[in-house]
Amino acid sequence: MKISFAAPALPKNAAIVAGVMKGGKLSPTAANLDKATGGALSKAIEASSYEGKKGELLELLAPANIQNSRILLVGVGDPAEITDSDLENLGGSLYKHLSSCGEKEAVVMVDAVKSAALDGADRAAHGAYGALLRSYRFDKYKTKEKSEKKTKLAKLTFMVESAPKARKLYGALSRVADGVFMTRDLVSEPANILYPKTLAQHAKELTSLGVKVQVLGEKEMAKLGMGALLGVGQGSERESQLLVMRWDGAPKAKNKRPIAFVGKGVTFDTGGISIKPAAGMEDMKWDMGGSGVVVGLMKALAGRKAKTNVVAVCGLVENMPSGNAQRPGDIVTSMSGQTIEVLNTDAEGRLVLADALWYTQEKFKPRMVIDLATLTGAIIIALGNSHAGVFSNDDDLSEALNQAGQAVGEKVWRLPLGDDYDKLIDCEAADMKNIGGRAGGSITAAQFLQRFIQKDVPWAHIDIAGVTWSSKDKPTVPRGATAFGVRLLDRLVADRYEG
Ligand code: BES
Ligand code: MN
Ligand code: ZN
Repeated sequence: MKISFAAPALPKNAAIVAGVMKGGKLSPTAANLDKATGGALSKAIEASSYEGKKGELLELLAPANIQNSRILLVGVGDPAEITDSDLENLGGSLYKHLSSCGEKEAVVMVDAVKSAALDGADRAAHGAYGALLRSYRFDKYKTKEKSEKKTKLAKLTFMVESAPKARKLYGALSRVADGVFMTRDLVSEPANILYPKTLAQHAKELTSLGVKVQVLGEKEMAKLGMGALLGVGQGSERESQLLVMRWDGAPKAKNKRPIAFVGKGVTFDTGGISIKPAAGMEDMKWDMGGSGVVVGLMKALAGRKAKTNVVAVCGLVENMPSGNAQRPGDIVTSMSGQTIEVLNTDAEGRLVLADALWYTQEKFKPRMVIDLATLTGAIIIALGNSHAGVFSNDDDLSEALNQAGQAVGEKVWRLPLGDDYDKLIDCEAADMKNIGGRAGGSITAAQFLQRFIQKDVPWAHIDIAGVTWSSKDKPTVPRGATAFGVRLLDRLVADRYEG
């Protein structure tokens, strides 16, 4: 879909989208169209229960006296209260509506409204961004689909007085969307196509944006002593990889220590010898969601030339049962020197992250570390599918994540850490065990990770198991891979670590 911005002028043919405020009050464009069509809009509003509530749509087909195929009224509620995120949702909803009714070209009229909380350029750019985010589709393996079904809205124009300003704002936002789309692509790929080596290859594409990419294989990781990560991958035919990316965007004078992102990249999680039940196991192709987000985030940050230094590390493994697989009861030695009794081979994400986190801190001395992982089923029981879980040793970082999440519509909820929980992974046979029992399963997983965080390093762990894949369409997220975390962390970086 081509999205563009232009100075206001009512189009002769395309579908027109115009705003209606709360109480059914017409925007200036809608009022003009009402006049041009002999009052068709006000009659339609009167005849329906339409109130112009945020996101409420009302459509007039083939309106009289004009050539346009349709007028789509979109409710904006109270313009004084509207946020970026609201506009993205409106953009997404109107994209969905127009594309599913087979419209090829549409024009969205973004009027000057004195009372509006945001200026026209901001409203237009975020509306366009929402439409773009909603337009994503993973259809590369649908070879027989009718072309009518594949063709969607081809051209969407936002008409606004300050079109150049809107275009510029949208430019930066669409770089973030590039990252979101890369993550959605990676997470959607099946595990026969996407495995540790091929995931790392995709990350190498980021070198064209100025990202430095390095990939370690099993030999190199063995030399570093990464027994925890390697144990998880040892049952698989696919070689485990450690993917390391760097973006150095800070001004040279401020040669600052980097911030770090670490991702769980289990390209398929059968559970290993502690094998999972067959039903639903296919979902475990998206157990690399954390690393998918980290790669897409690097694309977003490099794409928009973020002014900060970032390192990103992903532990990439496939968790398979085989004659060579790790057994329950095996004891492994992590890179940190701490030993782990592996009581359940399905609690593998924490083993992968233990070494990835330690490596990141030893090698880069970051000033902050955030890890992302589809770590526990228990987080889905606790929070469902609309918040990710956050665990942190730093109140400011946790609050900043909360704020960023609110701003972009990727919400997080903090859960506790503490000694009482930490005790639950103490172990008779080794320094710790990799499971803490059913109670507080997401918390004991986070406690495990915290044992691999060095003194005074601000750290947050985000458990994204409940939000990485969506079975339902959302205004800016079609069902499937969501890329939850890319926008959240891009926003956190912009608010806290640039400038
Ligand atoms: N990848 C899973 C967690 C998961 C479950 C993600 C469902 C997305 C949807 C993780 O590796 C796992 O298997 N965790 C176990 C831990 C348990 C054995 C302590 C779980 O949550 O059951
Ligand atoms: Mn598992
Ligand atoms: Zn897993």
